[in-house]
Amino acid sequence: MKNLNGKVVALTGAASGIGRCLAIQLAEKGCILALADIDDNGLQETVKLLPLETQTSCHIVDVANKDAVYAWADNVIAKHNHVDVVINNAGVGSNESIDDISYENFNWVFDIVFYGVLYGTKAFLPHLKSRPEANIVNISSVNGFFPFPNNGPYNAAKHAVKGLNQTLMQELRNTSVFVMSVHPGGIKTNIVRNSRFGKGVLEKNESVKQFDKIAGTTPEKAAAKIISGLIKNRKRLLVGKDAVILDILVRLFPQGFSDLVGRIWGHKR
Ligand SMILES: NC(=O)c1ccc[n+]([C@@H]2O[C@H](COP(=O)([O-])OP(=O)(O)OC[C@H]3O[C@@H](n4cnc5c(N)ncnc54)[C@H](O)[C@@H]3O)[C@@H](O)[C@H]2O)c1
Repeated sequence: MKNLNGKVVALTGAASGIGRCLAIQLAEKGCILALADIDDNGLQETVKLLPLETQTSCHIVDVANKDAVYAWADNVIAKHNHVDVVINNAGVGSNESIDDISYENFNWVFDIVFYGVLYGTKAFLPHLKSRPEANIVNISSVNGFFPFPNNGPYNAAKHAVKGLNQTLMQELRNTSVFVMSVHPGGIKTNIVRNSRFGKGVLEKNESVKQFDKIAGTTPEKAAAKIISGLIKNRKRLLVGKDAVILDILVRLFPQGFSDLVGRIWGHKR
């Protein structure tokens, strides 16, 4: 999508982090925004940061709720007439081993991170297909090609998002809809602060501190990279130097590198 000016973009997880920065930078490019999040206050804060002239609609949507996502898609069409881009960005994490985690916490992550993306994709797809040019941007992660210990549902869900994205690329080959699979490394956002913690390796405060130290990319930079990938119709996008390095290590040492990470971080509290 070479020119974003005047395009209608539906974006989830717009109340914080990468989503908020995407909203601001897309607005600066002249996009019309349909913003969704579960966090009403955060969403209002995002809107305050947009250029005044931005045409915006805000929707409180739990992306894990299929009916709510489909109702949002209907609202977006009713309000803006059409949609050109959907960015399925909302996400959450957890910090607990597969052995210890409850099904409630596992499903909480999986339902938001995978089903949220699936619902957002399917609800908007018929509308996107009717446009001369349209894009689906689904945010996976480096965890979508490499799992980290004590992050089981997130690893599984992000791998599933990658699989969904590649399937969509195959199936939508001869249509006007481009699909981009985004794989960020560590981005300095609230993702760990908003995670559910059980018997993970670290206490929450310690984990947040460590993450803030190692997350090498700002959400502003991540958003800029994602928008540049969108403009170039990229299929697979790594965000951050750490993501690029990890991609190489995983290709060179598929099992050996995983074993090493397990030795360093795999133990339980
Ligand atoms: N921060 C990182 O290091 C990193 C790395 C790789 C991938 N990602 C992915 O990037 C995306 C954005 O995350 P972020 O880092 O900006 O985190 P963040 O916590 O700052 O923002 C996530 C947003 O999603 C919203 N959200 C959570 N549950 C929701 C639900 N059920 N329905 C609707 N909205 C909901 C939150 O309210 C929040 O506004 C996520 O998919 C995340 O998995 C992040």
